[in-house]
Amino acid sequence: MIVCKSPAEIDRMRGANEVVAAVLTDLAGAIAPGVTTGELDERAEALIRAAGATPAFKGYHGYPAALCVSINDEVIHGIPSPTRRLAEGDIVSVDVGAVLDGFVGDSAVTFPVGAVPERAAMLMRVTQEALYRAILAVKVGGRVSDIGDAVQRHVEAHGCSVVREFVGHGIGTAMHEEPQVPNYGPPGRGARLTEGMVVAIEPMVNLGRPAVRVLDDGWTAVTRDRSLSAHFEHTVAVAEEGPFVLTARGDERFDEVLASAGLAAPDGVEARWRKRTRLK
Ligand code: MF3
Ligand code: CO
Repeated sequence: MIVCKSPAEIDRMRGANEVVAAVLTDLAGAIAPGVTTGELDERAEALIRAAGATPAFKGYHGYPAALCVSINDEVIHGIPSPTRRLAEGDIVSVDVGAVLDGFVGDSAVTFPVGAVPERAAMLMRVTQEALYRAILAVKVGGRVSDIGDAVQRHVEAHGCSVVREFVGHGIGTAMHEEPQVPNYGPPGRGARLTEGMVVAIEPMVNLGRPAVRVLDDGWTAVTRDRSLSAHFEHTVAVAEEGPFVLTARGDERFDEVLASAGLAAPDGVEARWRKRTRLK
């Protein structure tokens, strides 16, 4: 069952989502060669708790941390560790979830550590562009698979591949609600997108082949061919006037990224995707 949210509930969801966005903005400034993934996790958990929220991932099916931190060929669900240090040239995917006022927010960004190889920069750019193209595909009356189709087309046009084993999801009082949101087409399938649906859209994109496997820790997903992988995620509310990106960060430039993806950003996309409230 898909649980649609009222405008008042979507406004309430902004709390958790803004905490998540603020954590990612903070971590962007903390990521540097030599920093451990455990330090990032501690920092994130402290910020989440200082905001009066709780980490959504910690304890979820026994997951041990507030963050997932996945480096290079790690796709998602990397477990933070006090001995794992970021190195110059790595790419690091950071996934954050928080619960506040009964609702969950979920977002992820892949960051460069210092200067990264051109192919790594390309992979991150294509994955973020794919996420924004997917958000553009969110329209009342459309279908869930229109989102994945937008991801897949962009990713494959750039010679990269879409991970199939993990998908985006509905989100609300639970982190994982219906519907599942795969990152591939064909379009026109699945549930109809309706006013009040809230989905976490999260393309996971590999530089090489799409296949992944899970390490013996039971969590960390890595590419089978050891190629680099990137992950970007936003929690997005579906509304008649277009999508609201609940996890939008202050420094994010939707229009610039869409332009680099070869798309003229629709007029006012910055303001509309960030619109703070629908209530008077
Ligand atoms: N953003 C991820 C997801 O949507 C985070 C889950 S990590 C877990 O599935 F540990 F909580 F499972
Ligand atoms: Co998610």
